Amino acid sequence: MGLFDVYSLFDIVPVKAKGCYLWDDKGNKYLDLYGGHAVISIGHSHPHYIDRISTQLNKIGFYSNSVINPLQKELADKLGELSGMDEYSLFLCNSGAEANENAFKVASFHTGRKKIVAFEKAFHGRTSAAVAATDNKKIVAPVNSFHHVEFLPFNDIEAVEQTLSKKDVAAVIIEGIQGVGGVNIPGEDFLKSLKKVCKKYGTLLILDEIQSGYGRSGKFFAFQYSGIRPDMVTMAKGMGNGFPIGGVLISPEIKAEKGMLGTTFGGNYLACAAGLAVLEVMKEEDLIRNTKETGKYLLKNIEANISYKELRGKGLMVGIEFNEKISSIRFQLLKEKCIFTGISGTNTLRLLPPLTLSKEQSDSFVGSLRALTNSS
Ligand SMILES: Cc1ncc(COP(=O)(O)O)c(C=O)c1O
Repeated sequence: MGLFDVYSLFDIVPVKAKGCYLWDDKGNKYLDLYGGHAVISIGHSHPHYIDRISTQLNKIGFYSNSVINPLQKELADKLGELSGMDEYSLFLCNSGAEANENAFKVASFHTGRKKIVAFEKAFHGRTSAAVAATDNKKIVAPVNSFHHVEFLPFNDIEAVEQTLSKKDVAAVIIEGIQGVGGVNIPGEDFLKSLKKVCKKYGTLLILDEIQSGYGRSGKFFAFQYSGIRPDMVTMAKGMGNGFPIGGVLISPEIKAEKGMLGTTFGGNYLACAAGLAVLEVMKEEDLIRNTKETGKYLLKNIEANISYKELRGKGLMVGIEFNEKISSIRFQLLKEKCIFTGISGTNTLRLLPPLTLSKEQSDSFVGSLRALTNSS
């Protein structure tokens, strides 16, 4: 049987990974400035992560959400403590799109409304309502297109107020930092006003922290730079360091009802063990501090050494926009310098390394990029 051919693949077969490095089947060693698309938070194959998951697997791997699983509560407690959001409650699922899908449902149940507001260049996933709230017509199938979604300009509070004043919007969804859209950071004042305007018109505010959360921005969640308290926060990627897990944090003002949400696999023992290991390592190794410091160092180093059009970023979520297409530079970084990076659109190189990245590793990346961009 063949595979349904939807991915454009690099001709590389990784067989081993450790910390910020991967090795392929030919023995080549790669520096990982991509983190498997912002997923690797505590570094590849961390010993505590391996131990937590394998110990759990030797006890019980799966049952169902019809019995008590104490690991779910342990995960919620630890997440509340590390994120500073302990008055919220946690719904566990398996992916980012699923987290957003559930957040939309909660907002719609709570408000009795069906309209969603999202922003230009937003990416919220590929399931039904999540993809309808994604600003990319190419990936929205007719079956997804019946959702009531309006896209507004990023950082434009007047446009938001005008739309919300009709009082028919269930939720506004915004990324803590736009990822796929090119590392675009919402203004802190914009987020503060957004929260106020949502409250004024009875609309719930959902912060999509699927890519920008779990320490990546130098705070636990990127929106925390603005000091607001959203109605819901969605997360996935860094939460499981590669084990599929997602979640929604739900404000205490929203009440749960039995059967309102549900999932077979969400919150299973292995996913919780992975999620707990991530939080334990983040705390033990002070990874949010490392992310903030190494991120600042990396941005300064790029500023001093690379000629770019625009540099955007917070912590270890960085976009370097060039005047020209960068697919060949990205390919050279991979093939000649053995460095994985990401891309947004055609002109922006996107960096999403593990949060354990060292200053020396960031120097190595900047040196390689400088050599390639100066000679091209
Ligand atoms: C901001 C954001 N939201 C949602 C998603 C969807 O997550 P998943 O691929 O886990 O469904 C992504 C994935 O890239 C994302 O970056």
